[in-house]
Amino acid sequence: MTIRALVFDAYGTLFDVHSVIARCESLFPGRGAALSHLWRQKQLEYTWLRSLMGRYENFESVTASALNYACSTLGLTLTKRSAGDLLLAYRRLNTFAEVGDALAALRDCRLAILSNGSPEMLNAVVRHSGLDRLLDAVISVDKVRMFKPHPSVYRLVPDKLQVRSRDVGFVSSNYWDVCGAAAFGFQAFWINRTKAAPDELGPRPNAVLQRLTDLIGWISE
Ligand code: LAC
Repeated sequence: MTIRALVFDAYGTLFDVHSVIARCESLFPGRGAALSHLWRQKQLEYTWLRSLMGRYENFESVTASALNYACSTLGLTLTKRSAGDLLLAYRRLNTFAEVGDALAALRDCRLAILSNGSPEMLNAVVRHSGLDRLLDAVISVDKVRMFKPHPSVYRLVPDKLQVRSRDVGFVSSNYWDVCGAAAFGFQAFWINRTKAAPDELGPRPNAVLQRLTDLIGWISE
């Protein structure tokens, strides 16, 4: 097994989308977790639906629409100011605890992000976390105006990094993203922090790991 480049999903894998719960909670006491979970679920649904409809809008816009929907559903009044606040929190998400150590130990491979995020959102969150010092590339789906798991998105990786697909290790906590990456021809690693059940979608990951630091043993073997 050769891996020349390790490519990571961003939201949910490197960055904890639910680190917005604290901000949600301070705006809507007692409803923070429910809002964050519905917001994320709708955000993903909208990416899949927009891709199917051929109606791409960037992830910033999808994230804002999903927030509006989640607030209406939960009966929460979202002002322009609190919407701005929560969308700003998305540019300052925390990384999961082990991310810095894992990336620093994996630097023998080329390291990149492939994400649904718009270039502006990704650059902001990557810079805010300091991960820009460890990454060789940040690749956004925006170039192909299509969201994961469409194959045109995964194709951006070999094109940009000049590596063969089979030499790419793709790492995601989102199982459906792992399936998309494995179907495309990457070696795929599922980070299952929450002991979730795998989706029934066909292609399976090369390995299921609990955290990103578990990759270190895999890659050095
Ligand atoms: C991303 C979404 C899937 O970062 O979380 O692409």
